[in-house]
Amino acid sequence: MKMWSGRFRQPLDPDFERWQRSFDFDRRLLRYELAASSAHAQALKTAGVLSSDELISILQGLEQMGERVKASPSFLDDPEAEDVHHFVEKRLVALIGETGYKLHSGRSRNEQIATDLRLYVRAVVDQLRQEIADLCGALVDRAEQATDSAMPAYTHLQRAEPVLVGHWLLAYVEMFLRDGDRLADCRRRLNLCPLGSGAVAGATLPLDRACMAQTLGFDAPTANSIDATSDRDFVLEFANVSSLLALHLSRWAEEMILFSSQEYGFIALPEAYSTGSSAMPQKKNPDLLELVRGKTGRILGNSIALMTALKGLPLAYNKDLQETQEPLFDSSDTLLQMLPLVTGWLKSAEFHHEAMQKAAQSGFMNAWAAATYLVQRGVPSRLAHECVGKAVAVCLERNCELKEMSLEELQSLSPAFGQDFYKSLELFSVLAIHDVAGGTAPARVRQAITTVRSRIESLREEVHAQETHAHA
Ligand code: ARG
Repeated sequence: MKMWSGRFRQPLDPDFERWQRSFDFDRRLLRYELAASSAHAQALKTAGVLSSDELISILQGLEQMGERVKASPSFLDDPEAEDVHHFVEKRLVALIGETGYKLHSGRSRNEQIATDLRLYVRAVVDQLRQEIADLCGALVDRAEQATDSAMPAYTHLQRAEPVLVGHWLLAYVEMFLRDGDRLADCRRRLNLCPLGSGAVAGATLPLDRACMAQTLGFDAPTANSIDATSDRDFVLEFANVSSLLALHLSRWAEEMILFSSQEYGFIALPEAYSTGSSAMPQKKNPDLLELVRGKTGRILGNSIALMTALKGLPLAYNKDLQETQEPLFDSSDTLLQMLPLVTGWLKSAEFHHEAMQKAAQSGFMNAWAAATYLVQRGVPSRLAHECVGKAVAVCLERNCELKEMSLEELQSLSPAFGQDFYKSLELFSVLAIHDVAGGTAPARVRQAITTVRSRIESLREEVHAQETHAHA
């Protein structure tokens, strides 16, 4: 039986009927639908709508459904189910008889889908934060393994200043930890329970909303039934945070692609995550990285699709909202598949530390340090900059580095140059001058590694605690 056929005299156009269904994609919400339905059934019992026996029979029916799906996914094959809500009602009646029709008392699919989606996003947020902790763990391990080896840092993709490889890797950790924070923030705002909001104006029966919220691990019931049944901010917020996470992954992938090219030669692509060419026998291609970069496009697209679907909707529920599900599922699936692969790639990629270190020692990346040497000897910064710039120009003509200029030549540019200038040009002197929190001085980087490790640990602990609470 349909959930709404009473007032209709004519059957639906069969093509339209099939086309408007969401069961093909919302079937994945079944476990949340079952959990929310159990909480609702208990509230119906407290409200005096169900007897104890009816409640038990409904709860057993719902539980059995969950077990059947686990045992055989083909249990979900149902060409007639309109959506996951209809499916549960149909199957419940098939399992326990007409009492099953009592489950829908005082509720609407509008609050159900809002609840299921919140539960879904909450679970995905927890999984993603776990994956982010693993990814950051892999990055910080590599940072530690790199010890004191250096590489060029670039601005405008031109060699700028030398940094420790560890410092560079920790830059990505910062981005991903911020994404983890943003996900946590999204979770905090979404963790309210729409049950009891009805179709738009609230439930028609005296349901204990606080109790339903608590049963499902929500912090509280939502505050307004109109908003609760029409709000998909949490989906959009999740999609937007996903876009930012994907964007960070894509920037990372792009850099790895560059660094693994023969032109840079900083990284050897791990064979387990690369492919060859059917035509050119010598090729090893960075497919994982390219797909990360490529799939970012669809994740960004999903954010746009969601904003466009929502932007013109009057309050409250409109069927357009059904269109928010697939972009959400696509973004979450794409990221959940991608992140462990990225972590695997990072663990197995090989860094050519010698090549990186060599690159860090040419191209005048010590020029700012050279100017700083003069500044510390009282030369005004702008003049020191000019003076070292002139020295660089001389070197460029002569195809040499600053350290190859004689002291006399240097002193003809500024009398402040002394013999100790040469020491200040050495790689480790240059690294050491960045001796501020957040800088690349080796001791600072070691300190940053320790701090980051404890931040990752706190993230893991928080996710663990939240998951435990959600499933209690
Ligand atoms: N499948 C629907 C959705 O995803 C469920 C809510 C249906 N509500 C309604 N009034 N037709 O939005």
